[in-house]
Amino acid sequence: MNTLLHQYQAVRKHSEHLCRNLKTEDYVVQPVVDVSPPKWHLGHTTWFFETFILQTVKGYREFDPMYNFVFNSYYESVGVRVVRTDRGNLSRPSVEDIYNYRKYVDNAMHSLLQAQLSADLTGLIVLGLNHEQQHQELLATDIKYILGNNPLQPAFEVEKTSQVHDPEKSWVTMESGLYEIGYAGDGFCFDNELGRHTVYLPAYRIATMPVTNREYLVFMQEGGYKQHQFWHAEGWDWVKNNKVSAPMYWHAIDGEWWCYQPSGLQLLQPHDPVCHISFYEAAAYAAWKGMRLPTEFEWEAAAPKFPWGKRWEWTNSAYLPYPGFVRAAGAVGEYNGKFMVNQMVLRGASEVTPEGHSRITYRNFFHAPLRWQYTGIRLAEHY
Ligand code: AVJ
Ligand code: FE
Repeated sequence: MNTLLHQYQAVRKHSEHLCRNLKTEDYVVQPVVDVSPPKWHLGHTTWFFETFILQTVKGYREFDPMYNFVFNSYYESVGVRVVRTDRGNLSRPSVEDIYNYRKYVDNAMHSLLQAQLSADLTGLIVLGLNHEQQHQELLATDIKYILGNNPLQPAFEVEKTSQVHDPEKSWVTMESGLYEIGYAGDGFCFDNELGRHTVYLPAYRIATMPVTNREYLVFMQEGGYKQHQFWHAEGWDWVKNNKVSAPMYWHAIDGEWWCYQPSGLQLLQPHDPVCHISFYEAAAYAAWKGMRLPTEFEWEAAAPKFPWGKRWEWTNSAYLPYPGFVRAAGAVGEYNGKFMVNQMVLRGASEVTPEGHSRITYRNFFHAPLRWQYTGIRLAEHY
């Protein structure tokens, strides 16, 4: 039994499964710069295998020489590419062409995966699979954005997103002391988790549960969005410039809050963890509570003691390299390292993170105003 081949097939199939309810038109649009067309994700993840794995194999012929221009996301060392804002302006390659591209690359990968592979090549294939899983989460969030911002607000999943019923929130108390941070196992991790090192943490308390919609509503009702003292200056500008008064996808209809879900517009569930908020909102909520967000180190040290995985949790840590971080040689060195400026770290995973993709050392990262991912809040405080 060839496990890597099996994993390859399963991951590739899941990306297409996520798109199963899309109409052809849904695959093409890019409503805002951060949201890529679903067909672009399907092409780009395929391009990753073609460019970093198949192109190094003797005798492989690329599917179409123009696809490097269309599906290269940000790799300067791999050449010029379509500007990001134009991803939604490409009616060609068609959706059908892209599914054919996937088949072509899958066939070549299947042959390759029959052979005995070097450790380097195996490592790149595993990176390609983890890369495609990251794009599966982006596919889920981008499809939600595309359809949730369409006036018809269509459903695209039959199942209602799973509901959690909040057990009583309690607190984990962490002693001051030295904690080991970063990946230590012998499985896969991203390069940004490496450089395992010791940090000193003063004593703190961290919540066992993320903040719920019901709790967040109190912040809204008590004027949280109207009082500058809870907000960063950037956050306050963001609130005013964008007239923000609720999380993304919330709609007040006849005195009740509804929110757009993959199953369509639904009544807001009070016990669900609050979702689709920016770093600014997360930090303002914590400040209003008289608390703060945990640092990514506090989060990682305490994570074995609480459940997580429904929401990506904003931390109060800037996305920076760990001590001893080195960018890999070659194009894949551009994967993470060059984004280590002006972004915040999120920890955990979300309900649309592929099964098994995250871990307690995993470092997700986004710019502070972004909130189309499944983001939430976990509180912490000095103890
Ligand atoms: C880790 C989610 C911020 O969206 O650019 C996809 C994931 N990296 N392709 C991103 C990623 C390369 C990355 N995030
Ligand atoms: Fe990518």
